[in-house]
Parts: sequence; C-alpha cells; structure tokens
Amino acid sequence: MQLRTVSELLLQNINLPEVEVKGWVRTFRANRFIALNDGSTLNNIQCVVDFENTDEAILKRITTGAALHIKGELVESRGKGQNVEVNVTSIDILGDSDAETFPIQPKKHSFEFLRENAHLRTRTNTFGAVMRLRSALSFAIHKYFNENGFYYMHAPIITGSDAEGAGEMFRVTNLDAKNPPLNDEGEVDYKQDFFGKETNLTVSGQLEAETYAMSLGKVYTFGPTFRAENSNTSRHLAEFWMIEPEVAFMDLNGNMDLAEDFMKSILSYVLENNIEDLNFLDKRLQDEEKTKPQAQRNEMTLIEKLNFVTENNFKRISYTEAIDILRNCKPNKKKKFKYIINEWGADLQSEHERFLVEKHFKCPVILFDYPANIKAFYMRLNEDGKTVRAMDILFPGIGEMVGGSQREERLEVLKEKIKALDIDEEELWWYLDLRKYGTAVHSGFGLGFERLVMFATGMSNIRDVIPFPRTPQNAEF
Ligand code: 4AD
Ligand code: MG
Repeated sequence: MQLRTVSELLLQNINLPEVEVKGWVRTFRANRFIALNDGSTLNNIQCVVDFENTDEAILKRITTGAALHIKGELVESRGKGQNVEVNVTSIDILGDSDAETFPIQPKKHSFEFLRENAHLRTRTNTFGAVMRLRSALSFAIHKYFNENGFYYMHAPIITGSDAEGAGEMFRVTNLDAKNPPLNDEGEVDYKQDFFGKETNLTVSGQLEAETYAMSLGKVYTFGPTFRAENSNTSRHLAEFWMIEPEVAFMDLNGNMDLAEDFMKSILSYVLENNIEDLNFLDKRLQDEEKTKPQAQRNEMTLIEKLNFVTENNFKRISYTEAIDILRNCKPNKKKKFKYIINEWGADLQSEHERFLVEKHFKCPVILFDYPANIKAFYMRLNEDGKTVRAMDILFPGIGEMVGGSQREERLEVLKEKIKALDIDEEELWWYLDLRKYGTAVHSGFGLGFERLVMFATGMSNIRDVIPFPRTPQNAEF
C-alpha cells in the first residue's frame, strides 16, 4: 500500500484496490461519509465507512478535527460532487478532537473569530486557499528573479540604520532592564542597546541591497521588515514581508518596466497554477458582494481583475499631473475630498490614491517624480531641484503596493541632503563609500508582500493574509 495525498487521489481516474491516506476530518455524515482534508488541495476526499462492520467506539471518535489514517479501495464515486471516493477497510484514529470544544465547527465563522484562532484557521477552506496562494506567490517571486539573472541577498534583520529615515523602528536591546547603563543626564542610555551600540529591527533592506547591487549587479531581498507605526488600518502591519530588487546601471524608467513586468509575471503564475484556490476565493467574494448595495459592488470578479492587470499596461503619470487631475476633479456627490490639496508639494492621502486608480484610470497607476521634501533622503534629485526620481505603484482596492526610486549616486548631492535632514553622516559612512568608489546610476523598489497577497486573494484585511499578524493589538501566538 502507498500513502497518497488527497490531491493525488482526486486526480486518479482508475480504481486502485489498496490506498492509504492521512488527514483531518472536516465532516462526518450519517455515520458513513467522512470528508477528509490534508491541506494538499482545497477539496476533500470522501471516505465511505462500512458502519455496520465498524466498532461503535471508533465511529464515535470520527469527529470534526480528528486526525485519521485511512486504508481502503479507491473507486468511482456513486455520489455527486466527486469522481472518486475511498471505500474504507481500516481506520486508525491518530488524534482525537473533542467535537464540543473544537473551535472550527463545520459552519461559517467570522474572520474576527478566526483571527483569534489563528493557530487553527488554516483548517478552513478560505485560509487554506489563502495560505497556499501565499506560498505559490513566494515561489513565483523567487522563480522570476532567478530566471532574470538576479541574486537573492539576505539583508540583516538587526541593523544600526534607519533606511527610511522615518523613525518608525523597534529597538533591539540586550540591556539589563533592572540595571541599565545611564547617560550623563541620568537617563537610560539606549545608545548602548546592542552590546554598546544603538540598533533596531530593519524597516527595509534597501541600503544593504544597494551595496550588493554595486558589486553583483542585480539582486533582491525577500524578508521580514518591521515598522513601529501605531496605525490600525486594514493595510498596515508592524511586521510584514518585503521584496526589494536593486539593480546597477538602471534608471527610473527601467525600474518602472521591471516592477510592472515582475508583478504581471507573478500574478500570471498563480492564474496558471492555482486556479482551483482562486476560483474558490472568487466565489466567496461574489457571495459577499451580493450582500452589498449595487452601487458599492465591485465591477469585476477576482479572476477578471487578475486577468485585467496581467493583460493591460499600468498608467504612468507624474506627481504634478496627478495633482492637476485631483484639483480639477469631482470625486463624489459632495464633489470634494475630505483633505483638499491646495498646493503643489502636499502628500497624497489614500482617498486621492483611491480616486486615481479606482475611479479615474481604473487600472494600476505608477506615480513618479514626487516633491523631494515628502520622500526619503536617498532618492535621486531631478534637474529641477525640487522633485526626486521616486515612484509609487497604486493598485485598485489596495492603494500603495510598491514604493521605489532611482538612488542618488552623486556623493556631494547626497551629503548635502543628509546634512539638511540632520542625519548623522558618520553612521552612513559605508553607504557613502558606494558613491566614492565606482558610483553609478542604480534603482530599486520595495513591494509589500502582504498587499500583493491581498490583491491576489481578494481578502480585504491584511491580518488575514499573514499566518500570525503582528499589529498594535495582536502579538499572541
Ligand atoms: O514605501 P516603503 O516604505 O519603501 C521602502 O521601504 C523602500 N526602502 C523600498 C525600496 O525602494 N527598496 O515600503 C515599500 C512597500 C509599500 O509600498 C507597501 O506596499 C509596503 O512596503 N509597506 C507595508 N506593508 C504592510 N504594513 C506596513 N506597515 C507597510 N509599510 C510599507
Ligand atoms: Mg512608500
């Protein structure tokens, strides 16, 4: 006998006299039909129990959530909904599950409830599908970069630099809380956090990736990043995963081309390889849509949306053009935004970004050439002296998915910027070295992985696309 996954069994179209499968019970009906799932696919295999010849004590232990080892014969199914089923010859209960207390009952649970049971929520169809897609998207990302000549670089998690200069960092410390070192003012000396140095969890691997791009040419990072921003939205996490390619000799136009090609390619990958899970999530979403008033419903289904994005060009416009559109538009019945943009130079709020992608252009939008003073210190200053070669990619339903730029490669210009922002030049000595020894045009971007998973799965809360979400409220598990 050979142990097989549910996915393998469901693909068989011949009778097999002896099969073996292990999994968890989803439901047990009429003392006879077990729906068994092992995570290999969305679908369950139906296992038909010969209840007349099965011990009563065993039948009682076949409950939702229990782990079973089943042996039997794979035959054509007599019932509807599946091609094959297993006629059970032996059942071994590997692990009991108390039907009274098992949180995942065979019924619809709210996502809030499932978040509180994040350790068990992947036993539901929705979370099984989302997490299989998350895995497939990660694979597609590595595949894309591998096939396009990039090296995978592991940026450090503990670092002394604040890549974004936004001060949203979690400190890393080995200080003795009861007996910390004190500074001259008698306060705890955080500058000695990490064996005498000040360190934090990384907010981005970009600066380190730049050092590798300036020697290996094309690199990318894909790892966890941390932001200590106390924002409680459906799009922010304190710990999220980011993909950051960085390429030598590439300018901002090349950066936009790379980002667009990359995103289309990974979304095409899941359309080709994970259609079963996508169809399931699409159906779930369409059912949810039906509960909304007509005017608020999505115009496209999930699959239509994914196909649309992979088949159409992203719209590319400058910040200045976007401001012109936003100043002259009528966004809604009240004809105005909550936050009105009066002057050039203001940062866009999410209502503006949403208007541009969801109402005005109705497609992903790449905004570029932002005002220098609302962007990070490392971005390449344009010849106009007031804008930088930055780009943000905005997606319908998500908002900002990608942030990137061409980097300032000129030592003196970069030094001036660092000074103007009051950043300690000493701390960035190694970053400045790149501009001293063989500097060159280079660019890169950061894609928020969870926001991509949200788009690909149609899930509306970022907490539902990462296994154990870290937010100001949630650090359990
Ligand atoms: O725009 P950000 O801050 O850019 C950077 O960190 C650059 N260093 C990237 C680079 O050029 N290599 O972040 C990049 C992306 C955002 O567009 C967003 O998708 C995601 O990371 N992101 C978050 N995702 C979830 N939770 C948060 N708190 C996030 N902050 C940013
Ligand atoms: Mg950004």
